[in-house]
Amino acid sequence: MKQIKAHIAVSLDGFIATPDYELDWIPQSVKSQIGKEIAAADTLLIGTNTYTYIFEHWGGWPYKGKRSFVVSSNDINVTPNCGVDFLTNKPLNQVYKLKQENDLLVIGSSKLLTSLIKTNLLDCLTVYTVPIILGEGVRFMCETLDSKWKLDKFCIMDDFLYSSFLRV
Ligand SMILES: NC(=O)c1ccc[n+]([C@@H]2O[C@H](COP(=O)([O-])OP(=O)(O)OC[C@H]3O[C@@H](n4cnc5c(N)ncnc54)[C@H](OP(=O)(O)O)[C@@H]3O)[C@@H](O)[C@H]2O)c1
Repeated sequence: MKQIKAHIAVSLDGFIATPDYELDWIPQSVKSQIGKEIAAADTLLIGTNTYTYIFEHWGGWPYKGKRSFVVSSNDINVTPNCGVDFLTNKPLNQVYKLKQENDLLVIGSSKLLTSLIKTNLLDCLTVYTVPIILGEGVRFMCETLDSKWKLDKFCIMDDFLYSSFLRV
């Protein structure tokens, strides 16, 4: 079985976006690190809100050379011919099947991440802690979860803390 990994920027008070979904508080250094992970990945896995944010803010679908799977309750694909497929029917079962043969990278998508953690589908979680307090916004974890992780790597950078965790 392959692995599902997530890379996500989080504020000190546990938000991944402002209330209006903005990401302008994330330093360029973090964006570029996550960008390298995306460039190295063959297959992306994202939630509907992250999908919508990306095509609305980044001028269409920027990852045409990759396979991208969007977990959603409805197929609202507005980026045809871009390698984007929607998983709508028992989506987590479909993710489990995809994982048999594909490494998957999750970006953003805190609601999706919560469901992947609950179902033990997420193997590695990399958090870029940004020293800012947003006060409100989109929460990193959508509910309290009982899930054990061990620290794999960490690194103090100029404007963020890199920490990577493996599911126990
Ligand atoms: N900090 C970062 O690194 C970073 C990076 C990129 C984006 N972002 C931000 O992240 C925000 C989105 O995060 P989010 O937590 O709101 O949403 P998300 O996980 O991207 O999307 C949530 C939606 O996806 C669908 N979904 C997710 N898991 C599902 C499941 N297991 N089964 C069925 N449907 C599922 C549901 O939509 P439906 O039921 O309506 O289909 C759900 O409401 C973006 O707006 C962007 O601002 C942050």
